[in-house]
Amino acid sequence: MEKVVILINAISVAAAEDELDVLDQACVVEKALEDLGYETVRLFTGINLAETSEKLLKIKPLFVFNLVESLDGDGKLIHLAPALLEHLKIPYAGCPAESIYVTGNKTLSKRIMIAEGLPAPELWDFSKKQSSDPSALYIAKPVMEDASVGIEDENILPADQEKIREFQKAHPEISYFFERYIPGREFNISVLGGDKGPEVLPIPEIIFEEYPYDKPRIIGYQAKWDEDSFEYKHTNRVFGLETKEPQLAEKLRKICVDCWNLFGLKGFARVDLRVDESGNPWILEVNANPCLSEDAGFYAATSEAGYSFTEVMKRIIEDV
Ligand SMILES: Nc1ncnc2c1ncn2[C@@H]1O[C@H](COP(=O)(O)OP(=O)(O)O)[C@@H](O)[C@H]1O
Ligand SMILES: [Mg+2]
Repeated sequence: MEKVVILINAISVAAAEDELDVLDQACVVEKALEDLGYETVRLFTGINLAETSEKLLKIKPLFVFNLVESLDGDGKLIHLAPALLEHLKIPYAGCPAESIYVTGNKTLSKRIMIAEGLPAPELWDFSKKQSSDPSALYIAKPVMEDASVGIEDENILPADQEKIREFQKAHPEISYFFERYIPGREFNISVLGGDKGPEVLPIPEIIFEEYPYDKPRIIGYQAKWDEDSFEYKHTNRVFGLETKEPQLAEKLRKICVDCWNLFGLKGFARVDLRVDESGNPWILEVNANPCLSEDAGFYAATSEAGYSFTEVMKRIIEDV
């Protein structure tokens, strides 16, 4: 029988929670592929693509399910795995290498969205000019990280060039950019591909419960990964926007489909947005191939839609 390869990044010895998560995803994907009658093989890849290429050519998979999130622990190399698959002409599930590269680079994708008229918060190059609004707040975000790595409360900064320089000095290891901080509500919207085109799944709002008034309402690293933290325990997903606020839901759905088309997404994606105090939506980021593990947003949205994960996998594979 022809095999399906589940391609996974080799995990480092000192892996943190966000890196280990890919193994949970592999389990979920493996089970669903087997339910669909495929024989699966796990293949771990590091930076040595020649070795991976050799193994792939030996297995000759029917297709690959790409779960690679980094190579040698570096998210900057994420697109090389699907690029290798394209080079070898092996079909693969999930977003194309180009979409992964472009959306993985947050400043590049932001510039493209702004140029296309999609609402993305203003970037501030503080070294060149004063902020256009001195009373605005900005958030420091890593250019190439994901999964809220490098995002903490202290990243929210006033439009003060000196404060921003101090922040950068304190974090020399990560390259940050600065975008307008959007106070307001947050929505993480999952989109599922398939034969009939993209389907925007039920929309969850992230509710920040019992947050002290002066604590930033953001999903930083603790909120996403540290189960014992205040942030993790006090952020909850709540569905039901489509019935409670149908107009807002429709506006958000349209933006997600526009992002899907603009970046050539396939299979599965998630768009993180906020809605400011005047009701205007802002795109924070587009996630090509978002996390598929059972406790993550994409899985929760598919369950809310009433899909089994096997059906979801079937749809993702239709996009190969
Ligand atoms: N411009 C912004 N305004 C307000 N909050 C933001 C902004 N950008 C990011 N955040 C907060 O930080 C979290 C992580 O940022 P995001 O852009 O989604 O990156 P990632 O999830 O890849 O780390 C968001 O879920 C949101 O809570
Ligand atoms: Mg995000």
